[in-house]
Amino acid sequence: MQTFSIGIIGAGNMGLALAAGLAAGMGPERIAVSDRHPDKQQRIRDLGITAHADNDPVIAHADLLVLAVKPQGLRDLCGAIAQGVQNRRPVVISVAAGIRGTDIERWLGGGLSVVRAMPNTPALINAGVSALWANARTTPAQRQAAAAVLAAVSEVFWLENEALMDAATAISGSGPAYFFLMVEALTAAGTAMGLPRDVCAALAAGTAAGAGRMVHDHPGEAAQLRARVTSPGGTTERAIKSLLDNGFMEMCAHATQAAQLRARELGEQWGAA
Ligand SMILES: NC(=O)c1ccc[n+]([C@@H]2O[C@H](COP(=O)([O-])OP(=O)(O)OC[C@H]3O[C@@H](n4cnc5c(N)ncnc54)[C@H](OP(=O)(O)O)[C@@H]3O)[C@@H](O)[C@H]2O)c1
Repeated sequence: MQTFSIGIIGAGNMGLALAAGLAAGMGPERIAVSDRHPDKQQRIRDLGITAHADNDPVIAHADLLVLAVKPQGLRDLCGAIAQGVQNRRPVVISVAAGIRGTDIERWLGGGLSVVRAMPNTPALINAGVSALWANARTTPAQRQAAAAVLAAVSEVFWLENEALMDAATAISGSGPAYFFLMVEALTAAGTAMGLPRDVCAALAAGTAAGAGRMVHDHPGEAAQLRARVTSPGGTTERAIKSLLDNGFMEMCAHATQAAQLRARELGEQWGAA
C-alpha cells in the first residue's frame, strides 16, 4: 500500500472520509485531492494532504484514482479528465451510486481497470462497510490495492456480479439512514410516553450502538441475538409481534427494493450516451 500514490477527485463527505482514513493509515505524503471549493480544499490541507483546485495534478501522480463526485456529475468529470487518465492509466475507483463500470470506462476513453465501490457514511468514523466490484481488466494486484484504499475506512466485501452493486447500495450504502430513522422513531415514541426527549434520544442511540456492536461481533446471528432478549410472555415478545404483524419485514423489503431501483435508474439516467 505504501508504494501507491492515491488521487481523489471530490472532497465531499466520501472523499474527505477516504482522505482522512488513508492519511491516518499510510501518511499524507502519497495522497493528493482536488475539489473545486476552497473550503473543501482547506479541510484536506488540514489533514496534511496536498489539495488542488485543478484535477490534472492529482491524476498526474495517481496509481489509484478515486472519483468521489455525485453520480450526476461523473460523466462531465470523466470527459474533462479522460486525456489525463489515458496518459497516466491509473486504476480508476468510482464510489458513485448506480453508474456502471462500462460507462465510466467508455467516458474515460477505454482500456482501463475500473473498480466500483459502495462505502457508507460510517466511513467518516472509520467504521464503514464497502461493497466492491472490479471489471475484467483489473488484475489481482490492482484489486488488492483498490481494496486497501477502501479498507482505510471500512470493511471490504467483493461482489463478482456488478448488478449486485445496486443491491449493496440499497442495504449498506443507504442503510445508515434506516437505522437513524429507527432511532428517530423510538425517540418520538418514548417522548410520547413521557420520557424527556434528550434522555429518550440518548437511550435510543445507546441501544442502537450496543445492539450494533453485538450483531457486528456475531455476523449472521441477528435472529439468535433477538431470541435471547425475547423472553416468552415478556415485553420484547409483545413489541416484536406487533412489528411483524404490522408488516415490518415487508416494509424493509419494499424500502430496499425502492433504493435498488433508484440506483438502477441513476445508472440508466446518468450513464446513457
Ligand atoms: N454520502 C454517502 O453516504 C455515500 C455513500 C456511498 C457512496 N457515496 C457516493 O460518493 C459520491 C460522493 O458523495 P458525497 O456525498 O461525498 O458528495 P459531495 O458531498 O457532493 O462531494 C463531491 C465533491 O466533489 C466536487 N466536485 C464535483 N465535480 C467536480 C469536478 N469536476 N472537479 C472537482 N470537484 C468536483 C463537488 O463540488 P459541487 O458540490 O460543486 O458539485 C463536491 O465538493 C457520490 O457519487 C455518492 O453516490 C456517497
